[in-house]
Amino acid sequence: MKRIFVPPIKSQGIKTKLVDWISSNVDGVKYERWVEPFMGTGVVAFNIRPKRALMCDSNPHLINFYKALQNKEITSGLVNKYLTEEGLKLLDSEGEYYYDVRDRFNKNGNPLDFLFLSRSCFNGMMRFNKKGGFNVPFCRKPNRFAQALVTKITNQVYYISQIIESGNYTFVNQDFKETVKEINPTDLVYSDPPYLGRHVDYFDSWTEEEELILNNGLEASKAKYILSTWLSNKYRTNEYVFSVWKNCKISTMEHFYHVGAKEDNRNAVYEALLTNFDVKDSISNTNMKNRIDRNESQLTSKQRKIYVTPIQLSMSLEEAKSLTRGIS
Ligand SMILES: C[S@@+](CC[C@H](N)C(=O)[O-])C[C@H]1O[C@@H](n2cnc3c(N)ncnc32)[C@H](O)[C@@H]1O
Repeated sequence: MKRIFVPPIKSQGIKTKLVDWISSNVDGVKYERWVEPFMGTGVVAFNIRPKRALMCDSNPHLINFYKALQNKEITSGLVNKYLTEEGLKLLDSEGEYYYDVRDRFNKNGNPLDFLFLSRSCFNGMMRFNKKGGFNVPFCRKPNRFAQALVTKITNQVYYISQIIESGNYTFVNQDFKETVKEINPTDLVYSDPPYLGRHVDYFDSWTEEEELILNNGLEASKAKYILSTWLSNKYRTNEYVFSVWKNCKISTMEHFYHVGAKEDNRNAVYEALLTNFDVKDSISNTNMKNRIDRNESQLTSKQRKIYVTPIQLSMSLEEAKSLTRGIS
């Protein structure tokens, strides 16, 4: 197994665990430029290490952070000094200083403060309120930036900066609808949009309409593309895989890992890679649907609901969302 380079920024949708799998599927695929309309932390590209890449996201703070690494406004040395000093203030204030940094960041958007918040907020979550303000509470560990973590983050900044420097990377803060217009037929696109119905925040929400626009844009581009999505969880199967993405081939983790007893996996969400070209172990959309319908797939539960149209699925997800609203 290759060494995985973990980016310094954390986010709930980070695909660190899928890097090896995605990487093994693109080995040997020829392309001129790697494109990510939803780069998030960038962990996938930073490990695949294409020579040229267009990395985009609607969240300006992610893009600003990587641009700052690229133009050396942020270096590993600077991060070490900054986190050591700010970490001491956090410790001295018994954690209260976190909220000073959060207020400061919400006024001026400093990328170093973004790193501080990403690494000391509750559960490494990234969430913004209706006004675009970062609103995740403190992780409640005043000694969060102890020397060992500062060194770890410093090293992460160092390695990711080296990777960015060794390639021709362009970081752009834009909506995916703009990015898909810029795709060339010789590009390889890795698309990891938000999952419908999961969570909604200022920079990160997703609708059925957007899913369709993405599908149309990718198809029209004539480029090879890979889409990360979920296939199933305990309650349901992602019917978009079989409607919106019906022309894609499917590769699932089922091919790579033994899926143990159902009991152990009751909270698992099974991931799938959808591609418009053959990858190792991929099967056709129809084959996967038949496997699920015949209960031959280990990745689904018999309790799954069947949605005839994406709109029905969307309505049901909305319903589920309204039930959980107010919890966070
Ligand atoms: C699932 S995450 C991507 C995670 C990424 N692959 C990683 O491993 O870190 C989805 C990303 O899409 C971005 N996003 C949400 N809506 C978007 C839109 N309309 N256009 C572009 N990016 C969007 C979010 O800011 C988030 O960073």
